[in-house]
Amino acid sequence: MSSKFRFFEDILSQQTPDIDDTLTLKDQSAVEKAVLQAFEIFEECASLDPELPKIKRKVHVGYLKSSLCHIPRAYECLDASRPWMCYWILNALWLLNEMPDSNTLSHVVTFLSKCQHEEGGYGGGPGQDSHLAPTYAAINALTIIGTQEAYDSINRNTLQQFLWGVRSVDGAFAMHRGGEVDVRGTYCALNVAKLTNLFTDALFDKTAEWIVSCQTYEGGFGGSQGMEAHGGYAFCAIAGLTILGRPHLCDIDALLRWCVNRQMKLEGGFQGRTNKLVDGCYSFWQGGIFPIIHTILFQRDGISLDGLLFNQGALQEYILVCCENPSGGFIDKPGKRRDLYHTNYVLSGLSIAQHGLGSESDVVGNPENKLNRVHPVHCIAPHLAYNGSQYFTKYPASPNDKN
Ligand code: FPP
Ligand code: ZN
Repeated sequence: MSSKFRFFEDILSQQTPDIDDTLTLKDQSAVEKAVLQAFEIFEECASLDPELPKIKRKVHVGYLKSSLCHIPRAYECLDASRPWMCYWILNALWLLNEMPDSNTLSHVVTFLSKCQHEEGGYGGGPGQDSHLAPTYAAINALTIIGTQEAYDSINRNTLQQFLWGVRSVDGAFAMHRGGEVDVRGTYCALNVAKLTNLFTDALFDKTAEWIVSCQTYEGGFGGSQGMEAHGGYAFCAIAGLTILGRPHLCDIDALLRWCVNRQMKLEGGFQGRTNKLVDGCYSFWQGGIFPIIHTILFQRDGISLDGLLFNQGALQEYILVCCENPSGGFIDKPGKRRDLYHTNYVLSGLSIAQHGLGSESDVVGNPENKLNRVHPVHCIAPHLAYNGSQYFTKYPASPNDKN
């Protein structure tokens, strides 16, 4: 099945009235103008080339593969996020069905082993202290590689100690020893423990209750109690509750109401929080919540809907028309520079929008735009998430794992 584009006039009719009396409205109007211009240019190009919109697969693959071997100077600020770069690149390449050769993948395993800390977990680079964010990225990257070499490079004994070391008494997790405690850390710990079969009831005692306490009056989740609802944290919260098998503990209807209202009327993409601007990366952080909610509602009410509860076509239009960098990579919004983070999460969101509930895909534009599937909870290929956790079932976590 293939979706039709919205009419330009329909998109235009959604424009925010030009009352620029606040900075927020001025910023919103400026983004809408830039988005409308992108749609206008697209219409002109598409009238000459009926193949459009068509993702420039080759240039994206070129950008991603070259970034795996050589990091440009502009990435100096991500020196503490090198496992993230491995994960973003490998996941984006998986989505584009262009995995690197086995020799390159083996080099990535060797590099990630250098980031593994002797006290457990992974740092942002060789010799750096362990942190839950690069630990999450490293485990996801190794699970995508999915070879015995990759699995066996993980020191599960020290990883388990690291997870206990960042656990706080209320069941939440700090990003690093003595660091900030938030829903990100908690989701990272759950994801890592699940994929490596280190999950125990003791390690995650009270975690579900703690996550639920971060749901706000708006229906989304903040980083911790009392903080503003935000798509990044809302994803971490509902994905974390799903790993715990206790998503019904939160107010799902309120979360759904909050999520559907984050899709922008004109742009088609998602904003991260109320009154903020569209951004391509929320295509996954917000978009990924919908298949999770769908499963929860199906379990609760037994109702199976036809599609996800957002406008999947409009999100694809935003991504295809406004987020593609012609030289490779994807961006936040028109006028922004490309980066690996946005490339991964824009493509992941596009895959969610295309595949919906999995039974039937709905690809906007050229059929070649169709991407591989992504697991909405782990943000890696579904079969690779399964393979990883299956591999480690032969090494159960000891129930008495606190020491
Ligand atoms: C706001 O940035 C961003 C945040 C408050 C954090 C976002 C959190 C995530 C993306 C989730 C991270 C997940 C893992 C697994 C580590 P901003 O104010 O620049 O953006 P905004 O205007 O769009 O809110
Ligand atoms: Zn972004």
